[in-house]
Amino acid sequence: MSDNVLYTDLSGYYDLMCADINYQAQSNNAHRLQQIFGNGGKRHLDLACGTGPHIHYLSQENYQCSGLDINQPMLDLAKQRCPQAQFELGNMCEFEVADAYDFITCFLYSIHYSGDIPRLTRCIDSVHKALNVGGVFCFNAVDKDHINNALSAKHSVVQQDCRFSFGSSWYYRGEGDTQTLKLSIEKTSAETTQVWTDEHPMVALNFNTLQALLTPYFDIHVFEHEHDKIVPWDKVSGNAIFLCVKK
Ligand SMILES: C[S@@+](CC[C@H](N)C(=O)[O-])C[C@H]1O[C@@H](n2cnc3c(N)ncnc32)[C@H](O)[C@@H]1O
Repeated sequence: MSDNVLYTDLSGYYDLMCADINYQAQSNNAHRLQQIFGNGGKRHLDLACGTGPHIHYLSQENYQCSGLDINQPMLDLAKQRCPQAQFELGNMCEFEVADAYDFITCFLYSIHYSGDIPRLTRCIDSVHKALNVGGVFCFNAVDKDHINNALSAKHSVVQQDCRFSFGSSWYYRGEGDTQTLKLSIEKTSAETTQVWTDEHPMVALNFNTLQALLTPYFDIHVFEHEHDKIVPWDKVSGNAIFLCVKK
């Protein structure tokens, strides 16, 4: 299986896989952070936007939303969901914009798709160049030192006489700047069961290194990975929300 079939041939299952995610709460929280720390501007870009769930909710807060993603099938679904938004096929590690943004987001740990630290650095540099003065970059991330290879998340959904079971887990081998996001989809109908497994190469780093990469470009605020309240990071949790204000 190719390493991005979930975002190409199986993109039609993506929203089912994410049915448990409270995108509205995530989007509301990002909006609150932008109101507190941002420049008040309304030009928004979602990196690795997928099928556009955050754009859907942030449009309701009167942002003029755009999305960038590297897989056209995901953008096609995003355009169906958010016909008013602009979408562009591109790589978040090397994008340029004609008109700068006030608010750039990147959720569901998608910043890790930059793959390794040199490309993550190029992504951060591209985001910085794409922001207006006082603009903010908001994303979530995981700390490689807190990855538990034994943990996995699973959930099932029934749709049109089929039962879908989705699984996801991180795997970090304990050294280096790469880790793997393992995903699985099992589709069971009355007659058959089909199983797909996907392994996505991701950048691995700890939060000290991430903050060191961001510091030349941004003032950084780190929060607990909560979406119904804003709580400063306790410096222990292995996942967090980063809010970065352009210097
Ligand atoms: C886990 S999904 C997240 C989608 C969306 N942000 C969400 O929260 O549901 C990851 C997305 O990242 C996109 N992606 C992967 N590598 C990328 C890259 N280098 N540049 C832009 N998008 C990328 C994939 O196509 C996919 O849509």
